[in-house]
Formats: sequence, structure tokens, C-alpha cells
Amino acid sequence: MPAFQIAPSILAADFAALGASVALVEHDADMLHVDVMDGHFVPNLSLGPPVVAALRSCTELYLDCHLMMTNPGEYLDAFKRAGANSCTVHVEVGDTAALVEHARALGLKIGLALNPDATYDMVAPWIDQVDLLLCMTVFPGFGGQSFIASVMDTVAAARAEIDRRGLPTVIQVDGGIDVSTVPIAAAAGATNFVAGTAVFGASDPAGAVRAIRQAAASAVAA
Ligand code: DX5
Ligand code: ZN
Repeated sequence: MPAFQIAPSILAADFAALGASVALVEHDADMLHVDVMDGHFVPNLSLGPPVVAALRSCTELYLDCHLMMTNPGEYLDAFKRAGANSCTVHVEVGDTAALVEHARALGLKIGLALNPDATYDMVAPWIDQVDLLLCMTVFPGFGGQSFIASVMDTVAAARAEIDRRGLPTVIQVDGGIDVSTVPIAAAAGATNFVAGTAVFGASDPAGAVRAIRQAAASAVAA
């Protein structure tokens, strides 16, 4: 895996031509981010396991499923069967211990997400239990929102703890990530960047992935 991972969010892709959209980024992306919205945890609906299965049939990319759901535990098996590689659940829904155990039993990688108004304390007990910490840089529910820079306090706190303990936990940021915001997140300590609009809204999605990766790298090198 490269030092920085770029995860295009298919939420911003052309749903009528999903396979073609995925093909555009397949060689440059490190994984695909799949936003699952249930209409309860967030005020929007998106997609579910059948779409994950459709993606699985057209790409070998790692499928990183972000479950914006009140009851993710009822669907982990279905996402695993559909071909998901990882599922990220929100700390706000509770039951974190059971969800982590359930995902592990299924052989899924497990991520834990927190909303912009949550504090690092809420996820601190799980930092060594999960594969990925997802710091939301927008309130979840919609693509195309503006990056919330105050979340960098959480990213920096997580980075300090992960480094202090030598943990393999990945820090992902999601929401409003583009070439202008990714340096801020990279400097704070994130290494995995979800981008929807900035990738699939671009005239050259593959070039956009490369540009975001370059912008992250130059922020850390600077
Ligand atoms: C927001 C989703 C994000 C979204 C990002 O609820 O979790 O993954 O697709 O979209 P952009 O990059 O457009 O902010
Ligand atoms: Zn997401």
C-alpha cells in the first residue's frame, strides 16, 4: 500500500454507468468508498448490498463500505456476502464492541467512524481494536459539502496516540476532500482520503486521484 490511500466515493459517480465510472479510476485508486445511507442515521438513502455485489463483479478494488446506518449489525453478513472488504460503523450508534466482534468473525476489516461534533474521547477506547478510524469532515448524509477544519483536532489526537503506541490503525477522513483540503488533513495525520465530488465531478477522475495524492504528499514533505 502507498503511504497515502485515495478512496474515491462512488456516491458521486454516475449510477447509470457505475462499471464505467469505476473503470476510470481503477488503476489510480487504492480502494473504493461505498456510502451506505439508511434514511434513519442520516436523512438520505443511497444503496445496499446488491450494489456492492455489482461493484464486486466489475472490479478487484478493495471495497470500503461506510455504513451510515442505525442498525449496521443486521447487515454485516449481507455486505460480507456481497463482497465487501471492510465495513465502517459509526460510534454514535453504540454497540461498538459487538459490532467489532461480529465483523471480525465474518473476516471483514472493521472501521469506526465519528461525526464532526464527536470528540476523540468517544473513540479512544477502540483505537487499538479497529483497523481504521474514520474522522468525518462533514456531517454525513450528502456529498458535495464543505470540509470542517475543526475535525483536525480529532485527527491530531488520534495520530498522536497511534504513533505513541505504534498501532497499525489507519486514519481516514471523508467529506469535502480535494486538492486544497487534503494537505490540511495530511498535515494533521490522516493517511486515507475519501473523495467523491473532487474525483467523479472532475473531467479526468484518474487525474484527480493522482492530484489529490500528490497534494497530500507535498503537504507532509513541506
Ligand atoms: C458523506 C459521505 C461521503 C461523501 C463524500 O455522507 O460519507 O463519503 O460521499 O463526498 P464529497 O467528497 O463530495 O464530500
Ligand atoms: Zn463516506
